[in-house]
Amino acid sequence: MSAVSEGADKRLVIAIDGPAGAGKSTIASRLARTLGYVNLESGAMYRALALKAIEGDVGFDDEDALVKLAEKSRIQLEPTLGGNRVLLDGHEVSQRIRELDVTDAASKVSVHPRVRQWMVEHQRALGQQGGVIMEGRDIGTKVFPDADLKIFLDADAAVRGDRRYRQQPQTAEIKPESVVAELRERDRRDRERAASPLVPAADAVVIDSTKLGIDEVLDRIGHLIAEKRAQGGRP
Ligand code: DC
Repeated sequence: MSAVSEGADKRLVIAIDGPAGAGKSTIASRLARTLGYVNLESGAMYRALALKAIEGDVGFDDEDALVKLAEKSRIQLEPTLGGNRVLLDGHEVSQRIRELDVTDAASKVSVHPRVRQWMVEHQRALGQQGGVIMEGRDIGTKVFPDADLKIFLDADAAVRGDRRYRQQPQTAEIKPESVVAELRERDRRDRERAASPLVPAADAVVIDSTKLGIDEVLDRIGHLIAEKRAQGGRP
């Protein structure tokens, strides 16, 4: 029986997966605000571990060392109205983990199956109470395969790259073409890795936001939630 059919007030688990720049974080935090849920950004956990690897000079290819590093790390996500505040071993790293070197390292450390296993266990513990919107790459396939609603948010790579470029401080050194190229490379790594590659779950609803604004995407998801609550089944 679906969690939704147990009552309209049941606090759902909503999974939002998709490639970089598809709008997941914006959608997750707006949706969380509307529903009174918490939004958890799973990518921030990979980013925090990547930062620790950079600081500790641990190789991004060294799975054993990365798992040991994860086991002695304290990574905390604190949902706020503007997104997740991220703490690594008690220190705020919310801004630092968005920088280019960490972004690139996060996509490399996340290919390792045992690193992923550690992450998935911690992510499950964070979401087990329900009332959660978790965004990432494998939430609907691995972290919460029984999520009440699974959204796969996609968009054309050029459009995603352009959104990313506009989000960051624009300097002469950063060219729009290099942002798109970096995003395509990250996409390739996320989609082609052997462990939990980025793919929509079989029961995910795929939304292509190439030509949609944030409000339109939110509207569609709002309808899916309402439909699901009314039917007590999958949309
Ligand atoms: O969503 P993001 O850009 O902050 O994610 C950073 C990296 O972490 C991304 O390259 C892929 C990886 N990631 C993942 O493998 N699985 C997740 N659930 C979330 C992120």
